[in-house]
Amino acid sequence: MEGSINMSANGFLLAALFLFCFLGFSHGHIHFSSLPRSLEVTASPKPGQVLKAGVDKISVTWVLNGTVKSGSDSSYKTVEAKLCYAPVSQVDRAWRKTEDDLSKDKTCQFLIVGKPYNPANKTVQKFEWTVARDIPTGTFFVRAYAFNSAGEEVGYGQTSDNKKGTNLFQIKAITGRHISLDIASVCFSAFSVLSLSGFFLAGKRKTKKAEAPGQ
Ligand SMILES: *[C@@H]1O[C@H](CO)[C@@H](O)[C@H](O)[C@H]1NC(C)=O
Ligand SMILES: *[C@@H]1O[C@H](CO)[C@@H](O)[C@H](O)[C@H]1NC(C)=O
Repeated sequence: MEGSINMSANGFLLAALFLFCFLGFSHGHIHFSSLPRSLEVTASPKPGQVLKAGVDKISVTWVLNGTVKSGSDSSYKTVEAKLCYAPVSQVDRAWRKTEDDLSKDKTCQFLIVGKPYNPANKTVQKFEWTVARDIPTGTFFVRAYAFNSAGEEVGYGQTSDNKKGTNLFQIKAITGRHISLDIASVCFSAFSVLSLSGFFLAGKRKTKKAEAPGQ
């Protein structure tokens, strides 16, 4: 009698533990394939355009996709627009790999902007961004995620098609030549400051000599 009560209590405990673990593990693991394409996203680069990191600008816009049910954005709290690797720039690079589990996905590593989302405002939202200086050379598209108040992805939109094969642009990284040019200009400035102060000192010495009596 007592044993069977213990058994069922244990069984219950085990089931509860199992459920807890299951919920615990599945919590927060959002899968990209489960997200609706609920945002319309545009970016200014033309297909195939080459942009220079640290120099060129990208203008990004997003707005609720006109085909989704009205009110489906009521839980949206923020939107983040990101720069994402196209498949051609992911080949043989595990550190850029696409994973359906968004906590492991490395497709979109570069944040362009994060902004609050106001469901009452249906105006197209716009942001202009200078391509950051640390963006590597590659082929990219832009994706925006909508997040709820728990910080979970609840929708997305992107400038490319679902296969990430259309409307891609390229970024050219800041090269070593640029960096050596930067160093050269720093050295040149240092040199001009030194030579200027050299002239100044020489000039001072001359005037001292001229002023010094009996020389
Ligand atoms: C809007 O949503 C529909 C349905 O999910 C989708 O087929 C379409 O591609 C979306 N439009 C844009 C611009 O993302
Ligand atoms: C709606 O969004 C636009 C674009 O960001 C902004 O200029 C405007 O002030 C917003 N309106 C409201 C009522 O928040």
